[in-house]
Amino acid sequence: MDYKNILKLISENLYCGIFIVDKNGKVLFYNQSINDLAGLKVENAVGKHVLDIFPRLTEETSTIMKTLKTGEGLKNYVQKYYNYQNKLVTILSSTIPFYENGVLEGVLEIFYDVERYNSLDHNKKRKEFTGKAVYTLNDIIGSSKEIKDLKSKILKTANSNSPVLIYGETGTGKELVVQCLHNESHRHNKPFIAQNCAAIPGTLFESILFGTTLGSFTGARDSKGLIEAANGGTLFLDEINSMDITLQAKLLRFLQEGHIRRLGENKTHDVDVRVVAALNENPYDAIAKGNLRNDLFYRLNAISFNLKPLRENKSDIVELSIHFLNYFNDELNKSVVGFSDEVLDFMKNYNWPGNVRELRHLIEHAINITENNLIKEKDLPDYLYMDKEKNNHLNENIEAGLDNQFSSKPLSEQLNLFERNIIIKTLKKYDYNISKAAKKLCIPRQSLYYKMDKLNIKLDKSAE
Ligand SMILES: Nc1ncnc2c1ncn2[C@@H]1O[C@H](COP(=O)(O)OP(=O)(O)OP(=O)(O)O)[C@@H](O)[C@H]1O
Ligand SMILES: [Mg+2]
Repeated sequence: MDYKNILKLISENLYCGIFIVDKNGKVLFYNQSINDLAGLKVENAVGKHVLDIFPRLTEETSTIMKTLKTGEGLKNYVQKYYNYQNKLVTILSSTIPFYENGVLEGVLEIFYDVERYNSLDHNKKRKEFTGKAVYTLNDIIGSSKEIKDLKSKILKTANSNSPVLIYGETGTGKELVVQCLHNESHRHNKPFIAQNCAAIPGTLFESILFGTTLGSFTGARDSKGLIEAANGGTLFLDEINSMDITLQAKLLRFLQEGHIRRLGENKTHDVDVRVVAALNENPYDAIAKGNLRNDLFYRLNAISFNLKPLRENKSDIVELSIHFLNYFNDELNKSVVGFSDEVLDFMKNYNWPGNVRELRHLIEHAINITENNLIKEKDLPDYLYMDKEKNNHLNENIEAGLDNQFSSKPLSEQLNLFERNIIIKTLKKYDYNISKAAKKLCIPRQSLYYKMDKLNIKLDKSAE
């Protein structure tokens, strides 16, 4: 029996990230789950240094680097950070050093996404039908034409029984709209059941949706599915594009016929449920990728809401910001009065990949850490600062980039050269003062030292 293959199989099928580095911090192994789990982009990570893969971490903040330094493991360590999709991720990690003949050989880190597990737990609760819709129309903030139209469309369509399709990027308010649709309708005293289609595997999902009857498969009991449980109310199917394509056909049949048949049962049950489905990409893209059935799309699309990204609806940013400012002042017992001009400018110019949710997190973060009564640039989360600087550097150095564009060297070598040039120029500008240069580059001092070492930059002019 080949244990290596078995270990590979296990690591690929565990829903947790596994990361192994050698004693120098170079990656020896990682499993695929890392990509989707922590929202990392680690293509061909093997051989790279851990701080190259997690550019936002430093020798001090990286659990792996800490363990390499101290030789001591860290058990069940909770870490919060913004991943590359700008989603706030909470991970629980254990970092374990491994030794050979008493000498530290490297570090193994195992971690999982806490919210993902919580949401599975949440779904367990929802299976017991405790889902609740809390938002009403007043919770939708904004005075732009977009928001006004959105509110009036919710009011106009809330009492219809036609299915609804809501699409928009992450954080644009899809859940908010679904809850409003329910609460503004005659169904508001009836169940509201939300189910994320990505959380449950296809085979199981069919029984969860349609219910089972005694003996339909081993261990099955007589039990209602989500559709029956939502009778009289609303069933919200989030991330519908993750639903198995054959199950989508069965959902379509229910939408057309208005009754369901539990798994293993012959008789049908009439149900009156309003189905609202959401997806976080354009439905036509989902259809093209084969993740959404054409016919289901046309049925769901009877009423549709296309929620605009925040960057296309900038006129609401100030109003939303003030709303969240008041909210978190109350919540955190603070009395911050507003934002500096730079912060307001920044908020208007930023492209908000995480949309309203990102804005909300940003203000929560700033109110937590500010020591003034005005939110200033330094109160913004680090990741924003870095993105901003990155853009500036790109503009400043566009010429340097163009110089390199016809080089026949491999891309990685050109990028190293490019990075080396920027670092040398910055060091020169600040008279080789590491702290000032690191600040200008918006990277921690340790990272600058590390990069200088890697790119062979010496602290004197011989490097030029
Ligand atoms: N117009 C708005 N007014 C007030 N709050 C908003 C608005 N739009 C979004 N939000 C808030 O932003 C956060 C994210 O919204 P929501 O959870 O509805 O997004 P979503 O589209 O379902 O995102 P995802 O695709 O990631 O699930 C919530 O806290 C929500 O209350
Ligand atoms: Mg959502």
